[in-house]
Amino acid sequence: MSDSDSANAPKKLFIKTYGCQMNVYDSERMGDALGVSGYQQVDSPEGADMILLNTCHIREKAAEKIYSELGRFRPLKEANPDLKIGVAGCVAQAEGEEIIRRQPMVDLVVGPQAYHRLPKMLEHIKDGGHVVDTDFPEEDKFTLLPRGPKAKRAPSAFLTVQEGCDKFCAFCVVPYTRGAEVSRPPARLLDEARDLIERGVVEITLLGQNVNAYEADGWSLARLLREMAKLDGLERLRFTTSHPNDMGDDLIAAFGEEEKLMPYLHLPVQSGSDKVLKAMNRKHTAESYLRLLERIRAARPDIALSGDFIVGFPGEEEADFQATLELCKEVRYAAAYSFKYSPRPGTPAADRAHVDESTKGERLKRLQTLLTEHQFDFQQSMVGKTMPVLLERAGRDPGQMVGKSPYLHAVHMKAEAGLAGKIVQATILHSERNSLAGKVV
Ligand code: SAH
Ligand code: SF4
Ligand code: F3S
Repeated sequence: MSDSDSANAPKKLFIKTYGCQMNVYDSERMGDALGVSGYQQVDSPEGADMILLNTCHIREKAAEKIYSELGRFRPLKEANPDLKIGVAGCVAQAEGEEIIRRQPMVDLVVGPQAYHRLPKMLEHIKDGGHVVDTDFPEEDKFTLLPRGPKAKRAPSAFLTVQEGCDKFCAFCVVPYTRGAEVSRPPARLLDEARDLIERGVVEITLLGQNVNAYEADGWSLARLLREMAKLDGLERLRFTTSHPNDMGDDLIAAFGEEEKLMPYLHLPVQSGSDKVLKAMNRKHTAESYLRLLERIRAARPDIALSGDFIVGFPGEEEADFQATLELCKEVRYAAAYSFKYSPRPGTPAADRAHVDESTKGERLKRLQTLLTEHQFDFQQSMVGKTMPVLLERAGRDPGQMVGKSPYLHAVHMKAEAGLAGKIVQATILHSERNSLAGKVV
């Protein structure tokens, strides 16, 4: 290769994404925008010209992982001093300058609300400078981030409609790392949805830290969903994550009325004890949560529910933990995510007296045993049923594809690769550990 060839060759960009789906969406948009600046994405950090870690700060382990990951890049930077290393996401927002102090080989630290400034930042670091940008600018970063050419997309896509959180749960860093609640204008979101459909997307999941608090130009999330459901070519809609206190009547009604809205709702409760819920600043009780679920199930009887739980929150006693188990037995979640409480610097709960690690570990095990049992029961209840499955990607064996049920199960079945993006009727044959096996009817 001659010198002029290598000068024109696209630079290689490796992005690694941690944390929630909003980071997945952000990484896609950053990849797209950097594509316009001449970067092509690659699957491994070796040989890359730029490495971008899109980070998560939600639990201590998640944040510490970033520093050890950065350490692993040291030999790459030593071998190629031109390699640029960037840290984006919630650790970038929370730690700022501290990241460069701990890892001087980092060139760029960018918080989640400043991504539209990336192309400018690259100019700045080109000649060896450092940049730290953790502002919360007024502008909508997504509107200002350049978009790449209309490449074909996988059948299912995320679309961030709302960011930030005003709830300030006592354990949570999100209000500090993502800032206040901001909703994107509906006209832009409908445009972006049309663009996704043109690229082959048939299922869109609307994202927000508190997606059901969406409110822009007088539109609620329910109205946005109803308008998106009218778009030709779009077959399925989902949204996540919702807060129990923002579950309006119009949104509940939409589950019964909008055929494209899938019967699945992630509605975290965190604990079944009113004492703990109060200490967490959740502003709802276990009872009000259960009554809310009754209303949702009345609107959409086949809805599958999932939730998040924290065990060992400061002040949680055995009786409180029992109340969480009781709530789970009453709800019978189709899926659930549970975590040991992790004290986060700067949050109100971090300074309280902590439950000891072994109690946390033991409670987590008991809770997860119960939740897994419910998840298996729900999967088992699918066997023999026929349902629409969205075929998404190639399966383990040749001639196999993996699809998605209305209830978010992965369904393995025999199907031709050309059918990706199609919704087929499938009968569920049996349930495996974390997926279902079916056959096209
Ligand atoms: N906005 C969403 C969830 C945000 S974080 C909501 O309100 O539900 C995802 C999950 O991480 C939370 O639901 C909670 O269960 C967990 N989590 C957040 N902070 C935590 C902490 N400090 N320790 C342990 N788990 C935590
Ligand atoms: Fe965190 Fe609570 Fe906001 Fe969810 S609602 S992001 S748990 S502060
Ligand atoms: Fe993590 Fe930030 Fe999402 S802390 S969970 S990446 S909002």
